[in-house]
Amino acid sequence: MILKNYRTAIVTGASHGIGPYIVKALAKEGMNLVLAARSQSELDQVAADIRRTGVQVLIVPTDVTNREALSALVHTAERTFGSVDVLVNNAGGDLQRQFHHYTAEDVEAQIALNLTGPIELTRLLLPGMLQRKQGHIVNISSLGGSIGFPYTEVYSAAKDGLIAFTRVLRADYRTTGVSSSVLILGPIGGAGTGARTMEEMHMHLSAMGKASMSSPEAVAQAVLKSIRRDKAEMVVMPGPGRLIRALTTLFPNWGR
Ligand SMILES: NC(=O)c1ccc[n+]([C@@H]2O[C@H](COP(=O)([O-])OP(=O)(O)OC[C@H]3O[C@@H](n4cnc5c(N)ncnc54)[C@H](OP(=O)(O)O)[C@@H]3O)[C@@H](O)[C@H]2O)c1
Repeated sequence: MILKNYRTAIVTGASHGIGPYIVKALAKEGMNLVLAARSQSELDQVAADIRRTGVQVLIVPTDVTNREALSALVHTAERTFGSVDVLVNNAGGDLQRQFHHYTAEDVEAQIALNLTGPIELTRLLLPGMLQRKQGHIVNISSLGGSIGFPYTEVYSAAKDGLIAFTRVLRADYRTTGVSSSVLILGPIGGAGTGARTMEEMHMHLSAMGKASMSSPEAVAQAVLKSIRRDKAEMVVMPGPGRLIRALTTLFPNWGR
């Protein structure tokens, strides 16, 4: 178990991409799991894989952009397991469209998926965690905003917002036993949105490109480490990820 009293975790975005790796790593730690995403059939597949490890798994098909669905997720999880100790806000994504082609609805949906959904889920779970004086929220953000990756205006605004949200949440509640961490991911290879795009476009990476990628397993291990060692912020990228983040803050035009 990651921490001796932690028994149950909710993982959003558990149906495909990086999420199932996070789910498997938590299951190996003996955590019961609540899997949330929209695709029931993919969640079923992930659940079947981890039930073999002996932990209990609950599937709650959920659109994280829908407030009622988030309430239902928390209610169902607490009714089934009694309490939730860990929340991993992993669901996220980008439309991969030039910003001037966005509609107002596109903007709202992207902010809901990457920022207000995770904030709302945290808000719903926090009272129970505070009552029990234990819990950990792990938010999955991106290095995208720091490096100004093309046409990610809305995604980056939301992901940078998630970093700020985590920082203040952590400062406000850490002394109560409820803590928070943010993982800032660089490019991930082998699974997830980046890997999918490369496959669809038949792109091949140079050796240097490959060297800058992390594996989904590394993300999953970082989730465990962030909880176990109560890390404020972890950059998941081989080599000088933290340095890149620091340099882009000091020199906003660097690399653009
Ligand atoms: N892959 C990378 O290179 C990379 C880099 C930096 C940051 N990240 C971040 O890492 C996280 C995981 O990314 P990924 O690469 O694994 O993406 P992915 O392969 O596209 O998977 C996204 C996950 O989020 C779920 N999801 C999407 N929209 C949802 C919604 N409205 N409600 C509920 N669930 C929803 C998807 O499930 P359904 O479609 O079934 O709902 C899926 O499980 C994201 O927060 C992403 O921003 C990834």
